[in-house]
Amino acid sequence: MRVPGDKSISHRALILGALAAGRTTVSGMLEGDDILATAGALRALGAQIERGKDGRWLVDGPGLGALREPASVLDLGNSGTGARLMMGVVANHPFTSFFAGDASLCKRPMSRVAEPLRRMGAQILSRSGNRLPLAVTGSDEPTPIEYTLPVPSAQVKSAILLAGLGTSGETTVIEPEATRDHTERMLRRFGATVRVSDEMIDGKKMRRITVVGEPELRPSAVVVPGDPSSAAFLAVAALILPGSEVRIENVGMNPLRTGLFDSLLEMGADIRFENQREKDDEPTADMIVRASVLKAIKVPASRAPSMIDEYPIFAVAAALARGTTRMEGLAELKVKESDRLSAIAKGLRACGGKVAEDGDALTVEGSGGALPGGANVDAALDHRIAMAFLIAGLASKSAVTVEGTETIATSFPGFAALMEGLGATLASPNR
Ligand code: S3P
Repeated sequence: MRVPGDKSISHRALILGALAAGRTTVSGMLEGDDILATAGALRALGAQIERGKDGRWLVDGPGLGALREPASVLDLGNSGTGARLMMGVVANHPFTSFFAGDASLCKRPMSRVAEPLRRMGAQILSRSGNRLPLAVTGSDEPTPIEYTLPVPSAQVKSAILLAGLGTSGETTVIEPEATRDHTERMLRRFGATVRVSDEMIDGKKMRRITVVGEPELRPSAVVVPGDPSSAAFLAVAALILPGSEVRIENVGMNPLRTGLFDSLLEMGADIRFENQREKDDEPTADMIVRASVLKAIKVPASRAPSMIDEYPIFAVAAALARGTTRMEGLAELKVKESDRLSAIAKGLRACGGKVAEDGDALTVEGSGGALPGGANVDAALDHRIAMAFLIAGLASKSAVTVEGTETIATSFPGFAALMEGLGATLASPNR
């Protein structure tokens, strides 16, 4: 099987397509609600974006610095990536853009992007707590900055780099912990100069990323690989359901995204990677996953950035493993589409799992077999919580009910049909 296109890469392809004058094509793009919301925001700013008959998306960008003031509110729906990257995009355009989102996005912290963008000259007025709705008035003379990320976040890094694109001079982000580098890779592909180096700062190895402002961006033909964060659900389902074997083709293998697979291999998972190749600046591979007996491990905090979106489904795997799994350094999980740390703990407990939260760590006592199940889990506008607990249901003695599964369409349209095609039984009153 194949999974839908990578969400992070799809956002960036549309955004850079809009910032490069001329036609960019995007193949394999995720057609999920998050990406369609970013497309809508870019259209409101003057880009033409449409789906071609062959399924490729066509982006006709007005070009860097040529976006126009949007006549309506930019509604980024459920997407933190869409909101934060687009704040960076408009930060150097001298007009005001209003940002809105759904109830989940309106709870998420925006100071992490607002603070550096203000330093670059943008004015940002927000609801209390630096939350959406908010307005960004871009600067006509933005200043380049050098900024050390206070939280490991590819969204914040990308917002600053995108703002740096339209800023004369060099803008630098310093990362104490490396996060996904899709923006850097794609900026280069569109013709921007990006320098990346590792250096010791205060006795710690950090990554320095510099973008040279005001480049001549050239449009590109982007091919989006399958999303490893979506493949994660199928891989774990195959591992925990005895007798399963799945082959997932063309999955993105960017090493800053594959922490889940490293962890599962450590647990004894039977996962093989074939056809490893580097296509369009991103590595990909086919994965063959077979049901396995999983043994508990300790997941170090240093691995968190490379599996940040995978903890909900990883915790389900841990709940079925033999032994007690501990995950550390999970503070960022509290500010995702939901408070994932508590959503994971609550959901697993409701399914009969044994879980302890302490600070930013989670300990899951594995059952070594099927969970009792029988739970009713509220997805709380969080697609990954919804999918993780549907998979937990497949591995439980009694069915698990998930409320609010519409949210799955943000990242994995067709999830239910694909799981049913693999033999899962999913019942829904709405279908
Ligand atoms: C993303 C970065 C991560 C991740 C999100 C997508 C991106 O968020 O959780 O799903 O595309 O840059 P943070 O940057 O907040 O860690």
